[in-house]
Amino acid sequence: MTEVTLAVVGGGLRGLTYARHAHATGAGRVVAVAEPDPRRRAAFAAEFGVPAGSAFPGWKELAAADRLADAAVIATQDQLHTDPAVALADLGYHILLEKPMAPNEGEAARIAEAARRNGIMLAVCHVLRYTPYTRAVRDLLDSGRIGRLISVQHLEPVGWWHQAHSFVRGHWRRQDTSAPMLLAKACHDIDWLVHLFGRPPARVSSFGSLSHFRAEDRPASAADRCVDCPLEPSCPYSAPRLYLGCLGDPESEFWPLSAVTPGRTPEAVLEALRVGPYGRCVYACDNDVVDHQEVVMEFDDGATCSFTMSAFTPMEHRRTRLFGTHGYVDGDGRTLRVVDFRTGEEEVVDTTAAHAGAEGPSAADGHGGGDEGLVDAFLVSVASGDPSPLRSDAFESLMTHRVVWAAEQARLTGSVVTFRPHG
Ligand SMILES: NC(=O)c1ccc[n+]([C@@H]2O[C@H](COP(=O)([O-])OP(=O)(O)OC[C@H]3O[C@@H](n4cnc5c(N)ncnc54)[C@H](O)[C@@H]3O)[C@@H](O)[C@H]2O)c1
Repeated sequence: MTEVTLAVVGGGLRGLTYARHAHATGAGRVVAVAEPDPRRRAAFAAEFGVPAGSAFPGWKELAAADRLADAAVIATQDQLHTDPAVALADLGYHILLEKPMAPNEGEAARIAEAARRNGIMLAVCHVLRYTPYTRAVRDLLDSGRIGRLISVQHLEPVGWWHQAHSFVRGHWRRQDTSAPMLLAKACHDIDWLVHLFGRPPARVSSFGSLSHFRAEDRPASAADRCVDCPLEPSCPYSAPRLYLGCLGDPESEFWPLSAVTPGRTPEAVLEALRVGPYGRCVYACDNDVVDHQEVVMEFDDGATCSFTMSAFTPMEHRRTRLFGTHGYVDGDGRTLRVVDFRTGEEEVVDTTAAHAGAEGPSAADGHGGGDEGLVDAFLVSVASGDPSPLRSDAFESLMTHRVVWAAEQARLTGSVVTFRPHG
C-alpha cells in the first residue's frame, strides 16, 4: 500500500495516538505538525522525525505553507475544529477530524460543505463504529437472527473518576469552552445507535442535569484543593489517589496523567495538584455540564431506544441490550450473549480476539480497537482513493450530530423534538 503522508494539527493526546498507530503500521507517515506548545511540538517532531521547517506553531501557519501532505489529522480541542478543517479541506487535504465536529450545527455544516466542495474524504473520529464488537453487532442484526429490532437499551458508564477528571476538573467541564456533555462525550453513543438502527430517529426526548458536583454538595469541612483537605482520604474523587496511582503504569501515565502534568514523580504530580486545575475539589470547580442524562428515541416504525449516560459507574465498556422479534442480545462491549426465541438456545460470541491488547474501553486502551480500526480504514481509503472502508462520511456524521443537538433541545425545553434528517 502507498504510504500516506500526514499533517497533524494538535500534537496532544489524540494527535499522538493516531500518529503513533499510523507509524507503527507503516501505512502512514507524519511529515508536518502544528502545535503551539513548544515542548509538545518539539517532542512530537522528534518522535516522528518531522523536519524543523514543517513543525508549525499553529494550524494557520501550516495552512499558509500550502499542501504538505495527503491528509490532515485535526485533533485540536472541541471549539477549534471548524476553521482548520475548512482551511485544510480547501487546500485539498483529506481529513481525519476529531469529534465532536464542531460546537454547533452551523459550523459542522460548514465543515461538511467544505468536504463536498473540495471532493475530499473527511472521516469524523467516531471510533466506536470501527471496533470488532460493533461489526459483530451489525452482522448479527443484518443476518436477521433476532428478527426486527423493536427496542434498544444502551448505557455509557462514564466512570466516577473519569467524570471528575474530564467533566468536572478538566477540558470538558463547561459548555461555553467545550460543549454540552452529550455532544462532547456521547456523540459517540448517539452516532453508534443511529448506525445500529441504520437510520435516524423520528422523535427525540431527553432529561438530565448536573446533580452532584456542585457547591451545595460540598461537605462543610472540605478544602478548595485535595492536597489541603482533611476529607481527602475518604473522598471518592480524591485527586492524589487518582493521579499518584497512575505512576508506574505506562497506559495511565499517558492517560489521564499526561493531561495533568508531564512529570512522572510523586513530587511533580503533587505540585500540579497544588497549583493546577486537576487538584481542585470537585465541589469547588467552575463546571456546568451534566453528570447524568437520558435520551429516548423513537424510530419511524415505532422501534424505541433508551440511552443512559452516567458519571456514577465504574469506567467500563458500554452495555447494550437489543430486543428483537426473534431474539435477544446482551452485549458488554466485548462479548454478545444471543438468545434465539425459536430454539431457546443461547450463544456467547466473543469479539475480543481480533484486537487482543486493545480491549479496554478508554482512550489509553485504544477504545476497544476502535482507534486502530479508524486509522487503518482512513489510511487505506486515502491510499486507494476509495472511501468504502470508512463507515461514515461528513454528512452522515453531521446528521448524527444533529440528533445530539435535537436531544439537547428536548432536554432544555422539556419537549419531544421531531427530527428532520435534512434540517
Ligand atoms: N475520538 C475519541 O474517542 C476522543 C477521545 C478523547 C478526545 N477526543 C477529542 O479529541 C480532541 C483533542 O483532545 P485531546 O485530549 O487530544 O486534547 P489535547 O488538549 O491533549 O490536545 C489538543 C492540542 O491542540 C493544540 N492546539 C491548540 N491550539 C492550536 C492551534 N491553533 N493549532 C494547532 N494545535 C493547537 C494544543 O496545544 C494541544 O496540544 C478534542 O476535540 C476531544 O474532544 C476524542
